[in-house]
Amino acid sequence: MSKLSLSKEKIKVVLLEGVHPLAEEAFRKDGYNNIHYFKGTPDSVALKELLSDAHILGIRSRTHVNQDIIKSCKKLMAIGTFCIGTNQVNLTEARNHGIPVFNAPFSNTRSVAELVLAEIIFLMRGIPQKNAAAHRGQWIKSADGSFEIRGKKLGIVGFGHIGSQLSVIAESLGMKVYFYDIENKLPMGNAKHMETLNELLAKVDVLSLHVPSTPQTKNMIGKAQLQQMKPGSLLINAARGDVVNIEDLIEQLDNEHIKGAALDVFPEEPSSNKDPFISELIKFDQVIITPHIGGSTLEAQVNIAKEVSQKLIKYSNNGSTSSAVNFPQVSLPEIGEKQTRVMHIHQNKPGMLEKVNHVFSKHGMNITALHLQTEGEIGYVIMDVDCTEVDELKNELKSIDGTLRVRVLHGG
Ligand code: NAI
Repeated sequence: MSKLSLSKEKIKVVLLEGVHPLAEEAFRKDGYNNIHYFKGTPDSVALKELLSDAHILGIRSRTHVNQDIIKSCKKLMAIGTFCIGTNQVNLTEARNHGIPVFNAPFSNTRSVAELVLAEIIFLMRGIPQKNAAAHRGQWIKSADGSFEIRGKKLGIVGFGHIGSQLSVIAESLGMKVYFYDIENKLPMGNAKHMETLNELLAKVDVLSLHVPSTPQTKNMIGKAQLQQMKPGSLLINAARGDVVNIEDLIEQLDNEHIKGAALDVFPEEPSSNKDPFISELIKFDQVIITPHIGGSTLEAQVNIAKEVSQKLIKYSNNGSTSSAVNFPQVSLPEIGEKQTRVMHIHQNKPGMLEKVNHVFSKHGMNITALHLQTEGEIGYVIMDVDCTEVDELKNELKSIDGTLRVRVLHGG
């Protein structure tokens, strides 16, 4: 167990936007009790005031941590976004102030995969149209166009966290899985890798998209790709709205080349629940439309709370920055008994390590472990030393030009 140079009671943790209570619980269990928990998002003046002496900040997606806010935070050492995205934080500014930002990118993988699987079953059975008709008082009792998913071919574009999870559960229900990815991915189970997207399109009964939004994936499914698919195919997009060209999809739904679709994401989405959803797609009974809720489950919220709070606690307790989105990543072991860990965050300039080493050797310190990682403009060097008295050393390290932050932790 490590001891922080600043005791845990003094480390001010600010949790905003009603992050899941498990996050607060995790901090308290670890001995942090200077926790300020708020349901909402303060305006920028109140936020600055709240963060003026805060060390750790936890937010969701609505709190904007911009350059101005970061500059005004004198003590902030880490930020956790209790969600998937990190766009709400100025990552470069945070990094330039020596502040790592952590998120939970894969906590809702299973939630998305389950929704997609349900949609495959519903689309194969023609449930959306039958359900819509029943709501209008029509009774369509017929097996026409209704199929089991067993033995059908599922095509997955993007075999990452969600794509591969979907592959496993779809195969367990008897589907034959084919996938395409730009990276060399290990197939799961009996899933078969396709060399090209076109090859995949022509083969499958239902296509599900699980790629990120990149210049390469923008409109990657348009008229040509939809026409490449077998007549009567199904399309699912729970990835990002700009991956599918909606006008082209509408055309292929109109001419019934594409028999049905499920869309959770759109090129333009309402910015709040109060704004209307406007799309020509609403005219199609055979299209399942969901409001970007693929990953929105209570289980995912719990996973996010656990994952982000653990990353923040770990960084605070031992300096590990594994999976930080804007920072050199190091996974550090526990600090040895009677040892001290000195962490130096600096601008990544030539000769910096030499200057840091010089301070250590001047103090005659025996370095037992050294970790160094750089990323872009930032360097993070961690030294474990056989000594507990490091105040003078810390001050000298702070005075090296280009130093952003120095932290010290003592082994238990
Ligand atoms: P991931 O990063 O684990 O996997 C993405 C995969 O796509 C990688 O294997 C990558 O190599 C592949 N890829 C990238 N560019 C490609 C291209 N041009 N062609 C083929 N493959 C390509 O990401 P993850 O977690 O599986 O998420 C996938 C998508 O799902 C992302 O767009 C993400 O934003 C979205 N998502 C949607 C949610 C929702 O609520 N609907 C919730 C969570 C994620």
